[in-house]
Formats: sequence, C-alpha cells, structure tokens
Amino acid sequence: HVKRKPFPQDFLWGSASAAYQVEGAWDLDGKGKSIWDEYVRIPGTTYKDTNGDVAVDHYHRYKEDVALMAEMGLKAYRFSIAWTRILPNGTGEVNQAGIQFYSDLIDELIAHNIEPLVTIYHWDLPQALQDKYAGWESRQIIDDFDNYCRVLYKHFGDRVKYWVSLNEQNVFIGLGYLAAVHPPKVSDRKRMMQANHHANLANAKAIASFHEMVPNGLIGPSFAYGPAYPKSALPADIIAFENANEVESYWWLDVYCKGKYPRIAWNFMEENDLAPVVEPGDDAILAAGLPDFIGVNYYQTATYEWNPIDGITGDASSQNTTGKKGTSKSTGIPGMYRTVKNEFLETTDWDWTIDPQGLRIALRRLTSRYDLPILITENGLGAFDDLTADEQIHDTYRIDYLAKHVDAVHDAIADGARVLGYCTWSFTDLLSWLNGYQKRYGFVYVNRDEESMKDLRRMKKDSFYWYKKVIATNGEDI
Ligand code: BG6
Repeated sequence: HVKRKPFPQDFLWGSASAAYQVEGAWDLDGKGKSIWDEYVRIPGTTYKDTNGDVAVDHYHRYKEDVALMAEMGLKAYRFSIAWTRILPNGTGEVNQAGIQFYSDLIDELIAHNIEPLVTIYHWDLPQALQDKYAGWESRQIIDDFDNYCRVLYKHFGDRVKYWVSLNEQNVFIGLGYLAAVHPPKVSDRKRMMQANHHANLANAKAIASFHEMVPNGLIGPSFAYGPAYPKSALPADIIAFENANEVESYWWLDVYCKGKYPRIAWNFMEENDLAPVVEPGDDAILAAGLPDFIGVNYYQTATYEWNPIDGITGDASSQNTTGKKGTSKSTGIPGMYRTVKNEFLETTDWDWTIDPQGLRIALRRLTSRYDLPILITENGLGAFDDLTADEQIHDTYRIDYLAKHVDAVHDAIADGARVLGYCTWSFTDLLSWLNGYQKRYGFVYVNRDEESMKDLRRMKKDSFYWYKKVIATNGEDI
C-alpha cells in the first residue's frame, strides 16, 4: 500500500446485535408478544424449531456482556429495542419496566465509555398490530410506528446520539412478503410493494420526528446492501446488472436518500402492475424524512446475467434480498436479471460469497450516488466454531474474514468515503433467525446449542483479542 490516510480518530469500532436474537426473557416484565414470538412456534419454520425465548439471556446478563465489551475496548455497541417491551400491544400505555431495562443498559454502556447505537426496529413487530390490521400492510402502521419512536426519543434522546430507524427493510419485506420465510409468510409481490411503501413512509416520518425531538442526534436506516456485479461485459449482462441495481438496491436507497423512487425500477413496477398505491402527500412525507447517514449491513455481493423473458421465473424466491440466500441457486425476474455464481469468489458454510472488496465497492458506490456519511452497522462471518477440550475457540477464519473487510473499509476511506464506524456482527454469539445457534458470529462464544441451554457461559474466542488490538491501534494493526 501507498500510505493511506488513517481511520478518523473518533472512528466507532463497534459490534452489533438485535433484541430478539440476544435478550430472551420473551414474556417477562410486561413484554408483549412480537410476530417472531409467534412465528417460531410454527413447526418447521426455523432450524430445529429453535426460538429466542431465552436466546443468550442478555436480558439478565447485560452487565456481564458490557463488562466484556469494556475489556475489549469496544467504542460502540449497536443493539435494538423490542417494541413490545416498551408498548406491549404496539400502542397504548408505556411499560415502565421496558423503559427501565433499556435505560439501565444505556447507562451501563456510557459508564464504560461505550457509545450506544440504538436500532428502533429489528423485525420484532408487535403481534397485536399484525392481528389488528396486518401490520405493515396498513397505513395505520405509519402513525403507530411514529408514536413508538417518539416514546424512545423522549426517554433516550438525551443519552443516545446515533439511531438506526429500520433494520434491513429490504430483507424483512422481501423475506416476509415474497420469499415467505419470515413472518407473515406471504408470497405476493404486489402486497410486498404496498407493505414496503408503508415502511418507507413510516421510516421517513420517524426521521422527521427525530430531527424535531433530538436535534443533535444522527439517524439513518440500515440497508442490507449486496452490491451487484455483471457476469460479463456482454451488453445484455450490463443491462441485467443495471436492472438489478435498480430493483434490488435503488428501490430502497433512493427513497431513503433522495425521497423518491428510482424512475427505471418504478417504470418496471408500473408496467407489471406492481407499483404501490401512492397517496397525495406521500411524496412530501418521503422528502421530509431524509437520513443523516446511511447504515450499511454488508455480507456479500451478487452477480447477475441477462435473463430472457422465458427464463428463471419471478417465483416466491425471486427477490435476492441481498445476503439472505446462498449463491448456488439462481433467482431473478424474467426480462430483467438473474443471479449466477461468481467463479472468482469463495463461499461460507452457508453459501454466501466472501468478498471484502465488495465492501469497498459498496462504500464507494453509496458515496458517489448519495454523498452521505456511512455507518457500517453489520459485517461478519457466520461459521461453525469448535470448542476445544481446554475451552479455547481458535476462529482464525473469522479473524481472516474481518481483517480483510477492515482493510477494505480503510481503502474506501482513502478513496474518499466518509465512514463513521464499523460494527461487526456480532459481539456475543446469538440466535440466527432461521439457522439456530450453530451459525456463530460472535467474538464471545456462548455455551448453548439448539438442544440445551447448558450454562450460557461466555468464553472469549481468539477473534476477541484480535479485535481488541485493532481497536487499540485504530485499525492500523490488523
Ligand atoms: C442481517 C440481520 O440480515 O444478517 C441480522 O440484520 C442477522 O439480524 C444477520 O442475524 C446474519 O444473518 P443470519 O441469517 O446468518 O443470521
């Protein structure tokens, strides 16, 4: 390398989690049921029918977890708030025990010099709102979400500076309303687009409220960004690649960052009777709720080729929802694009491409199209970890993966991207929504599996010491 400009001095070296995946205590202290609390009870929906009833018991062990973060020198911890702890039925009376839990967690982090990064919505919609009006399919969600957000801003806006509005709208909408592997298990692109439009409006409205109530804070959505590659320089492949950009990425990112849908994707949706109903006033709501930064969850890239009109059909699994599927099975939309295997890239145990340069490409593309600061809110490797007889976890593959991605972030900063921070997924091991506890992401091993909660003991992996060193040297020694 030519000498690159260093990471900024206040760079947020962080790590992330989500309420359902770590907390447990699913029905304690007044918490209401979320759609995930119900969904995991349908046999066959998750790996070995595993649920997050106890998860890794962070609800009871958060002090121990924060102490480990402090030992590592972590600068920031991204966690999500369970809507159902705050408002058990989604609306109505605030549950003080829920406020207390997150207030204590925030104080504990701040006491250890760890910046709290709060995700407002990480997929655990109150079941009551799903039952009452089908959740995201009703416009009522816009005001109810705003009301929930305002409760959070009021109670935590004084102590929390960085906020993530919706986590991976493209994933929870795509997997919930098209691939039908997340609740509410629907497979209907038209309904998907309408639910998605409501989520856009809810996101924008909540951002506008934030700017009113927390003027010194920063907020943005987190997008699951899997940059597209063309399979070849064949012009038809380039059209496919551009179509994928429009439909898989800009369909969300343009709405967030420009307040409007991208024209080419909109034209496709309209021609195919898939465009959402947009009411008068919606454009103004979208334009008034622009983010301060773009949150990026990066796991992998996807490669596209031309898909003839009689090619791979737009079936239930056609939305790639970047990063949530393996790469070996092709998906796509006839006349638009389809995915192909990238022969240059290796894959993880779950068939996701491993592509550190893809993260540099992601950061450059976002910078060039939107010119906003970027917070990397997730990046990590899901792998099987072995616990040795003397209770060590030698996760060199994770260190290798993360080191290459940190290096790519450094390159992107040298290229001119404004990156606020980098959160790995995840700090402790946690529940993978559909893959149980065997797919581990953490720096800290949690002693449990699908069959048994064992003792839920925390054990530091080799990667724990590696990230500690990365933080201590502000990213110079990787
Ligand atoms: C992101 C989510 O999509 O990917 C996380 O925001 C999730 O909640 C992570 O756990 C990894 O996905 P998976 O399917 O391997 O658990």
